[in-house]
Amino acid sequence: MAFPATRPRRLRASPALRALVRETELNPGDFVLPLFVRPGKGVKRPISSMPGHFQYSVDEVVKAAGEAVKVGVPAVILFGIPDKKDSKASGAYAADGIVQLAAKAIKNKYPGLLLIADLCFCEYTDHGHCGIVHDGKILNDSTLELAARAAVSQAKAGFDVVAPSGMMDGVVAAMRLALDGDGFEDVPILAYAAKYASAFYGPFREAAESPPSFGDRSTYQMDPANFREAMREVALDVEEGADMVMVKPALPYLDVLRAVKDRFGLPTSAYQVSGEFAMIKAAAKNGWIDERKVALESLTSIKRAGADFILTYYAVEASRWLA
Ligand code: PBG
Repeated sequence: MAFPATRPRRLRASPALRALVRETELNPGDFVLPLFVRPGKGVKRPISSMPGHFQYSVDEVVKAAGEAVKVGVPAVILFGIPDKKDSKASGAYAADGIVQLAAKAIKNKYPGLLLIADLCFCEYTDHGHCGIVHDGKILNDSTLELAARAAVSQAKAGFDVVAPSGMMDGVVAAMRLALDGDGFEDVPILAYAAKYASAFYGPFREAAESPPSFGDRSTYQMDPANFREAMREVALDVEEGADMVMVKPALPYLDVLRAVKDRFGLPTSAYQVSGEFAMIKAAAKNGWIDERKVALESLTSIKRAGADFILTYYAVEASRWLA
């Protein structure tokens, strides 16, 4: 029945009523905290475009992981900045690679914290691309061999979940095969299934020291204009054995996120990327927006659009606000 019998405002009249009918509620259990690790000791180097975030040495990253544990964040995802970069991304699959060492140290102190490994090569290659480069081209199938090695190396180091983020075709299948072959059939794969060639990654490239030295990533990451292609990308990753999927970035791609959740029904995540975080921080610093409200509204929208969990640089702050 229409107005005046039906008055939606009745249910908005008080905080208690609003709480009762609220459809989406954030909690710390929804978040994954990204952390950056570099060599050294006692290093906590600020990332200027991402206030409150740092490049940590292994000893310091353990403390940062402890902050997440303290506020109830169940998982962290690690990114490494290696000592040396080369054409084969050796640091990504070395037994004593930087994220491998960090994983061991964190597991040792916080065995209950879920450790996710971002599996990509841009931080480890001297050219900053996410794969093997030959004659100015990023080679797909040679990169798969490295991905397989990196996945096994990360599982051996104690990572609970591996997350391929390079957008190479067939990478999920290659990793699944390698993991199973080495006795890691219980290690899940979180696929960056629909990852766009986004300008919102700008601050991350400062954080991870990983900008490509030539060209850009548009021969492997997706065109922001494409929706149907995202459905094909996710379908492939699911067929290849992905246990969970991700849409990245988050807020500009909520249509994709909603569709992925509805069509595939897998545990679905979204990555609120560095640029999304930096924009809120910058506007707040200027006094133009209320940081807490904007951050929580963004995260709520991402969850409402279908995210079962969210990778976010706000993980710790948002958890404190929600407490
Ligand atoms: C690695 C990777 C990137 C991000 C996560 N993994 C950068 C990129 O693809 O260029 C971006 C994360 C962020 O912006 O917060 N390939």
